[in-house]
Amino acid sequence: MHRIIIEGGRQLSGKIKISGSKNSAVALVPAAVLCDEEVTIANVPNISDINALDEMLTFLGAKVKRSEDVIRIDSSKIENKLIPENMSKKLRASYYFMGALLSRFKKVEMYFPGGCSIGARPINLHLKGFRALGAKVEENDNLFIITADNLRGAKINLDFASVGATINLMLAAVKAEGTTIISNAAKEPHVVNVATFLNNMGAKISGAGTSEIKIVGVKHLHSCFHEVVPDYVETGTYMILASAIGKDITITNIIPDHVESLISKLDDMGVPMQIGVDFIKINAPLKLKQTNIKTQVYPGFPTDLQQPMAALLTQATGKSTINETIWENRFLNLIELNKMGATAETVTNSKAVIVGPTKLKGKNVKATDLRAGACLVIAGLIADGKTTIENADYILRGYENIIEKLTNIGAKIKLEEIE
Ligand code: EPU
Repeated sequence: MHRIIIEGGRQLSGKIKISGSKNSAVALVPAAVLCDEEVTIANVPNISDINALDEMLTFLGAKVKRSEDVIRIDSSKIENKLIPENMSKKLRASYYFMGALLSRFKKVEMYFPGGCSIGARPINLHLKGFRALGAKVEENDNLFIITADNLRGAKINLDFASVGATINLMLAAVKAEGTTIISNAAKEPHVVNVATFLNNMGAKISGAGTSEIKIVGVKHLHSCFHEVVPDYVETGTYMILASAIGKDITITNIIPDHVESLISKLDDMGVPMQIGVDFIKINAPLKLKQTNIKTQVYPGFPTDLQQPMAALLTQATGKSTINETIWENRFLNLIELNKMGATAETVTNSKAVIVGPTKLKGKNVKATDLRAGACLVIAGLIADGKTTIENADYILRGYENIIEKLTNIGAKIKLEEIE
């Protein structure tokens, strides 16, 4: 277990290089078991969620080699075994083994996955899609047994453009007989990145990044080299931090299009930004204007940046509102922000109001999930005095080298291991 300690109130300046996307990498790594040859994935973030997936691959019998940001996965000799619940519940993305192992072995047994407690997080759309492809799904408490004599292409319409269901169904359908059409598919950059990976292995997927994805089943997938797309949530988190207390902060290795909705909001708030092909340079303005945020599926404002944004809204003049439309339980960070001096109120499960600007003071606070943790890191860096963030392990799940990256731009921040 870890805690993060921050001495805040210092202006930050310098460069931050963005890592590969967590939500892409956590799908690519399980997807590697679709192939019985070695695949190489580069720009993989060194975060604890990847370590957990590495552990599961190794348990299945894959040979995993990691060096810096490259992971090589040889699943030629894997066995189709039930991954122990204590491993699979470490993260949400363990459910990608469902689609991938179902495709490879026509049978998979898997416990309900874990992940941050930000809502109910059902997997009914994944299961509905597996059934449409011809699989039988049995549920026994927490355990799912999914079997198919043969997977056949199907038309699948998602009630909601779920990222997880879209990716899992691409994995399950990639070698199914015939053509699968996923309509109302998620359009997030990591969905596109996974489709590109599968195509690099010989799949025939088109339309990823639009709301209709077509998958023409192929018989065999082969070895490939693939690169993880830059993390737009990490990019956005540092953009938000820079907008609060940055002087000439340059965030590099990014795809600006992926953070367009955030750029537009920061522009409304009066943040001066210089946007290049693969970088963005930000200076915090003297005064931030209020704004209203509504989370939406991509390319709308991402739910994963809503909590980091709350820290910035405490510094904006006037009343800002947040409307969270994706998750039911994503405002716990506001309780912690209020301990630090913010004036944030949760009106309903989906609506919150923040009135600013308020002076934040360092306090003992607790991360309740990954992005709530990112919110508190930003708040701690803005605040005067010492902030201690308990449950910092949540933050390490998704932000590679966060301590080093922030120290390099002048932050006083350290990670402490506790019993
Ligand atoms: N939903 C259903 N049934 C399903 C699947 C989803 O009702 O079968 C609902 C969910 O309850 C939620 C909405 O659909 O209300 C969106 O869920 P989605 O499936 O899109 O989310 P996810 O795949 O579980 C991923 C990211 C999340 C991110 C969301 C939304 C991963 C591992 N996680 O979750 O990331 O918030 O998409 O963009 O990719 C994070 O990084 O902090 C994080 C939580």
